[in-house]
Amino acid sequence: MDAQVLWYVSRATGVVSLVLLTAVMVLGMATSGRAGSPAAATSGVAPAPAAPSRFGPSRFGLSRAGVHRLHREMSLVALVFLVVHIASALVDGYVGLNLLDVFVPFGADYSPLWIGFGAVAVDLLLAVGVSSLLRSRIPRPVWRGIHLTAYAMWPLAVLHTAFTAGGDMASLWMQLVVAANVVAVVAAALRWRRRDQHPDALARRAGDLRHLAGNVR
Ligand code: HEM
Repeated sequence: MDAQVLWYVSRATGVVSLVLLTAVMVLGMATSGRAGSPAAATSGVAPAPAAPSRFGPSRFGLSRAGVHRLHREMSLVALVFLVVHIASALVDGYVGLNLLDVFVPFGADYSPLWIGFGAVAVDLLLAVGVSSLLRSRIPRPVWRGIHLTAYAMWPLAVLHTAFTAGGDMASLWMQLVVAANVVAVVAAALRWRRRDQHPDALARRAGDLRHLAGNVR
């Protein structure tokens, strides 16, 4: 394939990957903490009946399960775009990257720091993906600990996007795309934090603990 075409493919799929990963983060935060509490899940006891909550089905008419499914399936689509982004950058050959640079950070000849951040993001994504496939076989706190590294993956992907040489960050459209992604995740994080401290959420957590204590006695 023409090197110019590969370069366009790499840039386009890089941008789509970032946007999809942002959507995955936002959807993840939208459902976070809504399933039964970790304590109830690891103990094997049934969760306490949910306190009436304002945070029921999403505003967009999707059930909690629907949002969760979208989160999972969108992450798979993001992975496909990411594979094409990386493969086209490797095959293009212009920047002299090799397969090791995809997984081992900071050793690339080209933009080592920023390509390295992309590599760490890929490693974290793989850990999150593999642990999710094995979810039923590993303890929930372990799965959750690994899953939470996605919060580190996303800013690393943004830094990789913003600073890798040869990208489109000098263009206004790209700056707007990156800014919109950052605003979306910050807004979702603030909303999530507010919801986590809402009396409904606290009451539900307290209910879970009481229920757990009742089962231990
Ligand atoms: C989660 C991981 C990653 C995401 C979300 C991502 C996304 C992006 C985005 C959005 C750009 C800017 C494209 C533009 O300016 O139009 C970019 C540039 C680039 N990325 Fe990645 N990337 C990731 C990982 C990697 C890895 C592991 C490599 C290779 C080892 C890589 C190679 C490159 C290269 C060479 C560029 C600059 C030139 C080009 O667009 O071809 N990326 N990436």
